[in-house]
Amino acid sequence: MSTTISSIGVLGAGQMGLGIAQVAARAGFPTVLVKATPGDVGALRQKVEGAWAREVEKGRMTAEEQAAALGRLTITTDFGALAKSDLIIESIVEDIARKHEAFARLDAICGPQAIFTSNTSTLGITSMAVGTKRPARFLGLHFFNPAPAMKLVEVASTVVTEPGLADAVAEVVTKLGKTPVRVKDTTGFVVNRLLVPYMLDAMRVLADSGAGIADIDTAMCNGAAHPMGPFTLADFIGLDVVFHMANNLHDEYREPRFAPPPVLTRLVLANQLGRKTKLGFYDYAQKPPRPNAGI
Ligand SMILES: NC(=O)c1ccc[n+]([C@@H]2O[C@H](COP(=O)([O-])OP(=O)(O)OC[C@H]3O[C@@H](n4cnc5c(N)ncnc54)[C@H](O)[C@@H]3O)[C@@H](O)[C@H]2O)c1
Repeated sequence: MSTTISSIGVLGAGQMGLGIAQVAARAGFPTVLVKATPGDVGALRQKVEGAWAREVEKGRMTAEEQAAALGRLTITTDFGALAKSDLIIESIVEDIARKHEAFARLDAICGPQAIFTSNTSTLGITSMAVGTKRPARFLGLHFFNPAPAMKLVEVASTVVTEPGLADAVAEVVTKLGKTPVRVKDTTGFVVNRLLVPYMLDAMRVLADSGAGIADIDTAMCNGAAHPMGPFTLADFIGLDVVFHMANNLHDEYREPRFAPPPVLTRLVLANQLGRKTKLGFYDYAQKPPRPNAGI
């Protein structure tokens, strides 16, 4: 079956979907971004315009490029607008039942040649693929946050992926200005399988080392040359997201290193989710942020 990919459809307009659609439109692909839940698409378009206006100010994009990219980007709540896209990138909420529902709807409107991909962080690609009528034309396509800035995309194939499909999609990833890394469908792929237990270990180190949150972050920045420490990173990703990833990895591999430590469970229960709720391992109401006094 042909694998010509000249248009991209993104389902889910959260932080990741919106970023991926910007990357695709800016790279020259006619791009449809579908907001999967009701709401105002005008505000989303304004966000993109604002982001690109800042790029123009900084000299990283010309006004002509900005206008052309905006012309290539359609943002809508109309699911049917995805019917003509060659490559679909699903980026809705990290919930397997919602993902199955979304792919069933996509299956009903997209032609058999359309390639389906999921941006899931830790859910099974094979499980989603076999739930569709096109299991062989289904891949994991895992971007990183923030999508416009982060260079890596993991391209995950399954045991039923058609030969050549991952190569064709990896080529598109390169056209998007990103670096593809090919992986098999394994929970967490490469980056999260290494990064999640590292953040969880930092929480265990916090419990018994005598070092505080800021000490551990400083130690990893200065001693291991990390650009941010594990607690700053976990707060940035979102502690609910880290918690879900840990549970999914633990369910899959049954290894204690993936089990969420009690401090993470407590923070998530208390809705202290990091930067997005202004409180997590750090308290963002303080300027500069200080370690959460309640931990
Ligand atoms: N946040 C990250 O760092 C990151 C990085 C890589 C991949 N991902 C993956 O990207 C996907 C989206 O994550 P995000 O961080 O953009 O989340 P988000 O919460 O910002 O966005 C989720 C989107 O899903 C939609 N949604 C909510 N409930 C829904 C439902 N019942 N049915 C359909 N859509 C629904 C929301 O409207 C929202 O636009 C997830 O699969 C996540 O694992 C996240």
